Amino acid sequence: MKVVAFNGSARKKGNTEILLNTVLDELGKEGLETELVHLAAGSLQGCIACYKCFENKDQRCAVDKDALNEHLQKMIAADGVLLGSPVYFSDISAGMKALIERCGMVSRANGDLLKRKAGAGVVAVRRAGANHAFSSLNYFFLIGQMIIPGSSYWNVAIGRDPGEVLNDEEGIQTMKTLGQNMAWLLKKING
Ligand SMILES: Cc1cc2nc3c(=O)[nH]c(=O)nc-3n(C[C@H](O)[C@H](O)[C@H](O)COP(=O)(O)O)c2cc1C
Repeated sequence: MKVVAFNGSARKKGNTEILLNTVLDELGKEGLETELVHLAAGSLQGCIACYKCFENKDQRCAVDKDALNEHLQKMIAADGVLLGSPVYFSDISAGMKALIERCGMVSRANGDLLKRKAGAGVVAVRRAGANHAFSSLNYFFLIGQMIIPGSSYWNVAIGRDPGEVLNDEEGIQTMKTLGQNMAWLLKKING
């Protein structure tokens, strides 16, 4: 079983990456395969509403100029999807939004490609907007018939500069518990 994680932060080695790796470490301890993908800043454009995916029904976005289809294929091949975003102006980053818009639309156009896979979101925040961003991630999973595991708190951790989330003991524990629950859920789903 495999979980693929997407880092929507504009900076590598930042707080979002630390949170994602904390979840992935727990999944690895439970024997799951994991992969972390960085959405390079500015690398993905949003959906252009061409609706070609509904005409083509080929499990691909018709705008084939960036890495979106590669990302979507990784989601389709995985058993679980983990999305991580920093809070930018009280919501998810533009890169994460672009991933959600286009993967979400192609998935819907093809009869919900991610149906009954496990999905979870994590959020790094300096001060405010974490729950709003967390909800934005969860809307993607819920409309796509995915199954969301819970944790001991909402999946947020506090930090501004890279590495500061490590000082948020409860936030880090929340990520560990999420990883354990996601592994448990995936084992149930896959018998
Ligand atoms: C463009 C931008 C907007 C931000 N907006 C918010 C915000 O609305 N609320 C907040 O608490 N932090 C905000 N922050 C701070 C980041 O959420 C915080 O530093 C986070 O830890 C960054 O994660 P990263 O290290 O993975 O990039 C913002 C940062 C940037 C660059």
